Amino acid sequence: MDYAVSNRDTGKVHPMTDNQSFKLTKHPSPTSPEKRAALMENPGFGKIFSDHMVTMSWNAEQGWHNGEVKARAPFAIDPAAAVLHYAQEIFEGMKAYRTKDGIALFRPEENARRMAMSAERMAMPAIPEKLFIEAVEALVRADADWIPEGDGSLYIRPFMFSSEPFLGVRPASDYIFCVIASPVGAYFKGGYKAVTVWVSDDYTRAAPGGTGAAKCGGNYAASLIAQAEATRNGCDQVVFLDAVEHRWVEELGGMNVFFVMDDNRLVTPPLGGTILPGITRASIIKLAQEAGLTVEEKPYSFEEWRKDAESGKLREAFACGTAAVVAGIGSVRFKDGSFSIGNSGDGEVTARLRANLVGIQRGSVDDAHGWVHVVR
Ligand code: PLP
Ligand code: COI
Repeated sequence: MDYAVSNRDTGKVHPMTDNQSFKLTKHPSPTSPEKRAALMENPGFGKIFSDHMVTMSWNAEQGWHNGEVKARAPFAIDPAAAVLHYAQEIFEGMKAYRTKDGIALFRPEENARRMAMSAERMAMPAIPEKLFIEAVEALVRADADWIPEGDGSLYIRPFMFSSEPFLGVRPASDYIFCVIASPVGAYFKGGYKAVTVWVSDDYTRAAPGGTGAAKCGGNYAASLIAQAEATRNGCDQVVFLDAVEHRWVEELGGMNVFFVMDDNRLVTPPLGGTILPGITRASIIKLAQEAGLTVEEKPYSFEEWRKDAESGKLREAFACGTAAVVAGIGSVRFKDGSFSIGNSGDGEVTARLRANLVGIQRGSVDDAHGWVHVVR
């Protein structure tokens, strides 16, 4: 099979053939089963890592080449590598689950597509969808023992960065793609307990024409000061409002947001360049519609949020994303006060949608949409 990779600068097409698929060199001294079991007992989120990683390189002459699965190890990169100066970096987040049918990924082609969109926005070379999925599968096979049983999952982090040593400001000519994996439990400390969010007054995440819809590291760097403010105010996550009017709810630092209204409606901010097009978001929209809810992708203001919560028109709110899955939002804090939503706990619609989604991901609910991708 041929992968044609076009170079965005020259338009030249670089062939990638089957012989470029990922060569496996097993870790010479992998973690012992006992140590792995101890590490995985209470993994938290993103703190422990599996034994292997995938790497692959890109340059204008060869396109993508040197695909490998090998022992996870530090990179040696030049101090002038463009990523360290101008932050040409993008990533994805996805999970592998143990199901009755074997190891499963959830809609990995959507991660591949979003990675290609992020690459385009950041003037980086796209990875063909098939090659992206092959890379993820190769790592999952090599590190299958690191997929937790039960409620946990193996969080997979594909990412790409510019490695060319060059201080001029232009798209780099060399890139490294890598995939690492981390066994995880719940993203929030309280598990599925409803979370408290902080609405940022001083900071915004993304402006029209900016990089909000791309999954680039810079978006997260810019969000950290607001996330730190949220933490200081006793909140789990930060909520960003739009950059133009500072009025419309956009998303959380690492999750999309939904509002459950009292008339069988689900409202979520529309995509449009400043919000990350979440795969969980798209899946929830579909599942909610199938469950008979009316889903409206429309602007919803912070003022409406507060009034609707106070009047009871707003029954529930939840955040969703790969890492956090679906987390009820129990209360909202901001500079001048706070309000709670519904019974401040995990709402009924939230819990139902989560159960449906998680059931599909883990193989206990019928996968009517062909979302589950079994790794052979
Ligand atoms: N919004 C942001 C800023 C995120 O980082 C994420 C996590 O990936 C999401 C939304 C949810 O996206 P997904 O459901 O594809 O994980
Ligand atoms: C994810 O849900 O995959 C995310 O990327 C959120 C956060 C960990 C950055």
